[in-house]
Amino acid sequence: MKIIASYSNKGGVGKTACAVNLAYSLAQSGHRVLLCDLDPQGASGFYFRVRPSRGLTGKRFFTRAERISDAIRGSDFDNLDILPANMNFRDFDVFLSRMKRSQSRLGKALRGVREEYDCVVLDCPPNISTLSEAVFRAADAIVVPVIPTTLSERTFAQLLEFFKDHGLEKRKIRAFFSMAQGTKKLHGETMRRMRKDHAKRFLDVTIPASTDVEKMGVHRAPVGSFAPSHDAAKAYMTLSREVVKSL
Ligand SMILES: Nc1ncnc2c1ncn2[C@@H]1O[C@H](COP(=O)(O)OP(=O)(O)O)[C@@H](O)[C@H]1O
Ligand SMILES: [Mg+2]
Repeated sequence: MKIIASYSNKGGVGKTACAVNLAYSLAQSGHRVLLCDLDPQGASGFYFRVRPSRGLTGKRFFTRAERISDAIRGSDFDNLDILPANMNFRDFDVFLSRMKRSQSRLGKALRGVREEYDCVVLDCPPNISTLSEAVFRAADAIVVPVIPTTLSERTFAQLLEFFKDHGLEKRKIRAFFSMAQGTKKLHGETMRRMRKDHAKRFLDVTIPASTDVEKMGVHRAPVGSFAPSHDAAKAYMTLSREVVKSL
């Protein structure tokens, strides 16, 4: 079982869009996928019309593997299950920071479902915290959406710095450009520069800015299910293939 995290230390960059469409694309390719929503806001669950989980607290999540299995819900799609978030997930950091060996707890909790799934996709909240450090340790790949702007470039540099300072494995990072607009000069220049500066960290695929991705909120479904022939859906499928190939 491979653990793939959709993560950025910046909000609103397309982490949830990535997690949802990556999970869907992997499932369409025949992998048995669990999408695990770690963000208390519960956006991933919303997109799949799954209600927030009840009763799964931070403490139970990390200490009682069977509670995770109980909270897993099916989706409308083959091979794809969801572990929805709830507001208790705000406490993840508090519990983890109190626990011994907090950094290995997430991986341990998820290993409880390793027989059932080939891939676990984690939709992460946007901060650098005890939880995100646990994510960095547990994940086999950390997929990082980067909007090609100056501020995102700075945030990405901060993330790499954090990995260096904490002895984390930079080779796990698979960044990709998110919401890219080919017509914008700044986007083009930033993408060229960042690809050059961080050649090993970037996937080839670019996810375009697309109204289809925005419409996921209306359809409450991944783009591939309602606009499979459009650019965004194809790009997410390419992303999933690139990630699998890199594992
Ligand atoms: N490729 C895209 N094109 C256009 N809008 C996008 C794209 N990806 C995400 N969005 C929109 O940007 C907003 C933030 O995306 P989201 O995936 O929720 O980010 P995050 O999880 O990083 O906060 C949402 O309104 C979403 O619909
Ligand atoms: Mg999100």
